[in-house]
Amino acid sequence: MGAIWAEVKENRKLGEGIYRLTLHAPAIAPKARPGQFVMLRVAHGNDPLLARPFSIHGAAGEELLILYKVVGRGTRILSQVRTGKTLFLWGPLGRGFDLSGERPVLVAGGMGIAPMAFAARWLAAQGRPAAFCAGLPGLAGWEHLARGLEEELAGSLSLAWSSEDGSLGRRGLVTELLSDTLAAAGASSGGVLACGPMPMLRAVARVCAQRGVACQVSLEAPMACGLGACLGCAIPAAGGGYLRACQEGPVLAAAAVDWERV
Ligand SMILES: Cc1cc2nc3c(=O)[nH]c(=O)nc-3n(C[C@H](O)[C@H](O)[C@H](O)COP(=O)(O)OP(=O)(O)OC[C@H]3O[C@@H](n4cnc5c(N)ncnc54)[C@H](O)[C@@H]3O)c2cc1C
Ligand code: FES
Repeated sequence: MGAIWAEVKENRKLGEGIYRLTLHAPAIAPKARPGQFVMLRVAHGNDPLLARPFSIHGAAGEELLILYKVVGRGTRILSQVRTGKTLFLWGPLGRGFDLSGERPVLVAGGMGIAPMAFAARWLAAQGRPAAFCAGLPGLAGWEHLARGLEEELAGSLSLAWSSEDGSLGRRGLVTELLSDTLAAAGASSGGVLACGPMPMLRAVARVCAQRGVACQVSLEAPMACGLGACLGCAIPAAGGGYLRACQEGPVLAAAAVDWERV
């Protein structure tokens, strides 16, 4: 793990409230694996005090990509950071996805695209076949990101969209698209890897359990340290007790999570 000041190479607006941050992070980027995350301080000084966790969206050479949505004060401050400034971060952190399965199905809901696009690129770079089911509320505000992902992955793995308003791909929830994809894949499905809002992950876990397909989920939890010390990120574990999202996760086997208590 590295803890560094990284220069901002770009902080680009991709849609309404959606930004892609490119950092020069030579001590972190080469070690980054899909599903891992970094803790990022969005400003110099002590306000805001706590770093924010962000999935690693990509890593190329010494550059690290973060895809983020403005939801509160920290991400609003981050969205105003200019090229050439420096930000403090530490990582890569946590356990990422196990990408060793044959023909995995990747599932992303909304900002869950951030780590799943990294996983998709990772598999594509190795020439490994995979399916990618990506769900959005609708195309509005996401056009640039959706088109960019399509161009990037064209010809390397099969990318299918769902949208709740029908403006992109199949109308409905991404879990319905996943069910269709698993039915078409039959016994050749090599497991499901998912990231998105908690209700979506719960539904993905249920679909996979019904079909007997192995499932890994990347879970979000409030995080103060990212290092296993504060216990702020506890996730109820199947069979009792808790798992720390920042240490045992953020990627966990769906079967390891107590979905009733999450
Ligand atoms: C392992 C991990 C990876 C993450 N990866 C990404 C990523 O790639 N891109 C991205 O945009 N965000 C990601 N997040 C969420 C991100 O950390 C939060 O959106 C961010 O910390 C919010 O900071 P803020 O100061 O802007 O908002 P705050 O002022 O802290 O909160 C503003 C509002 O957002 C809500 N909120 C805060 N955190 C979350 C969360 N984790 N999920 C849903 N709502 C939340 C709060 O409840 C509140 O309503 C990740 C979180 C974790 C734990
Ligand atoms: S964030 Fe502190 S223990 Fe996980």
